[in-house]
Amino acid sequence: MVLVTGGTGLVGSHLLYFLLKENETVRAIHRENSDLESVKRVFGYYASEAADLFDRIEWIEANIIDIPALSEAFQDITHVYHCAAYISFDPAHYRKLKKANVEGTANIVNLCLSHGIKKLAYVSSVATLGDAVNGKMISEDTHWNPEGENSVYAITKFGAEMEVWRGTQEGLNAVIVNPGVILGSGYWNSGSGSIIKTASKGIPFYFGGGIGIVDVKDVVRILLQLMKEEITGQRYVLVSANVSYKKLLSAIANNAGKSPPKKEAPKWILYFLSGLDWLAAVLFGSKRRLLKATVRSMYTDTAYDASKIRNELKYKFIRFEDTIERVVKNYSSEVSSGSVS
Ligand SMILES: NC(=O)c1ccc[n+]([C@@H]2O[C@H](COP(=O)([O-])OP(=O)(O)OC[C@H]3O[C@@H](n4cnc5c(N)ncnc54)[C@H](OP(=O)(O)O)[C@@H]3O)[C@@H](O)[C@H]2O)c1
Repeated sequence: MVLVTGGTGLVGSHLLYFLLKENETVRAIHRENSDLESVKRVFGYYASEAADLFDRIEWIEANIIDIPALSEAFQDITHVYHCAAYISFDPAHYRKLKKANVEGTANIVNLCLSHGIKKLAYVSSVATLGDAVNGKMISEDTHWNPEGENSVYAITKFGAEMEVWRGTQEGLNAVIVNPGVILGSGYWNSGSGSIIKTASKGIPFYFGGGIGIVDVKDVVRILLQLMKEEITGQRYVLVSANVSYKKLLSAIANNAGKSPPKKEAPKWILYFLSGLDWLAAVLFGSKRRLLKATVRSMYTDTAYDASKIRNELKYKFIRFEDTIERVVKNYSSEVSSGSVS
């Protein structure tokens, strides 16, 4: 039996669908306030029998920082996909990030070891890789720089990877994937979904940097394949295309029938707005919307080399254009039907 953590999130929900399609017996953890309806909605993108497939999931309530509840979830499990993580770039959330990402992953690794789990697949991030040196593309061999300008998210995802590597030293079979920004349907108000939502409305400006993109379907297919292969103790960069923000935002706008952004937003304005955002958070306790770390990444041109996965698994990524077309189409049809604002 397979255990999935983070099954109510973007990656986990698409993964659950593909696992069930392959007739796996699946248990997934959720928290008290998790939105299980969004998982059903994701299944609806793929199949008319979405509700039947959804009903085959055995849901167990467990937080990854709650060891007794998590131990229950590990009964009769042979393989584990660990997709759960707390995602925030706000330095004020560091303790919460460390708890969920580092301690939570340590718990998963320890339970994998004590339950003799055959293999763990862990979803990390390109955030755990170092910066490009001499214009070279970033790969699995670009090592973390502790002196770098690392976000609190990156620091805790790196700590989580260290826990997985520690597990492999203690005898656990494990693989790690390091995706770039994951694009997929279903979660329009958070993470990469909010990029689709915002850019689909048409925005006048783009930002000077670039990012590595990957389709959620690629992430899921690769996770499934890596689980079946004999491979262990390896990590893989998952990026289908390195694109500028201009190209990304224009592709989304074009597919949504809106004008693409024409002008580059000056970096100083974004830093200025980020300062105002910080002030509002301090004075009025409002949620941070534009962090310095986010502005920094908007103006950094990073390029990732995913040739390791392409070569070792003979894997062909979905074309960037096809990902954008499908995801924007799903978003637009939900807006038209009124199921999303
Ligand atoms: N999205 C991206 O662009 C991207 C890029 C690179 C790497 N990643 C990595 O990919 C993985 C999946 O990301 P995602 O985009 O699917 O994230 P997401 O949509 O934000 O989902 C996060 C999932 O983690 C669960 N979770 C968070 N804290 C938990 C806790 N303490 N105990 C149990 N479950 C907890 C959430 O459960 P609730 O529903 O209860 O909140 C949710 O199911 C993460 O490890 C992330 O770091 C994501």
